[in-house]
Amino acid sequence: MTQRPPLSRERLQGLVRSLGGEDAFKDLMRQFYRAMAHDLMIGFFFDGKDPDSVADKQSLFVLHSAGLIQSPPEHGPATAHRHLAPILKGHFDRRMRILEEVLLNARVSAADIDTWVGFEESFRKVVESRS
Ligand code: HEM
Repeated sequence: MTQRPPLSRERLQGLVRSLGGEDAFKDLMRQFYRAMAHDLMIGFFFDGKDPDSVADKQSLFVLHSAGLIQSPPEHGPATAHRHLAPILKGHFDRRMRILEEVLLNARVSAADIDTWVGFEESFRKVVESRS
């Protein structure tokens, strides 16, 4: 898939609002990270880590990108993964598949899934090449 441009703050704010607000969004993010941590292909990245805590940092990252909170997490996607095994295209593809499955299961609308997936996709290059 081609690299997509970053999404506007307004679109991210609309996503969080449409999902039911910050708490509902954080809850979905935890479901997403729990599913990744249990996955046969990419679960090993989360060995020894608390998926809820990693999910909460990712939520901070998105909420900060949306302009909804002031403080970002300590690391962004360009530096957060340097100490991990290399994140390859297949790992990233699998992450996106799991995200879609979790959101479909939670009956999230196609438009919101597209926005969330689009946000993640815009970091593909930085995550795949900097890890
Ligand atoms: C297959 C793809 C990915 C994998 C396997 C992955 C895995 C991880 C893991 C295991 C951590 C925890 C590191 C630690 O605490 O030691 C982490 C942290 C993080 N990741 Fe990812 N990640 C992926 C993609 C992404 C993407 C696409 C983004 C951004 C859109 C992102 C943003 C972050 C952030 C913000 C943190 C927390 C930084 C902090 O500690 O302050 N990751 N990731």
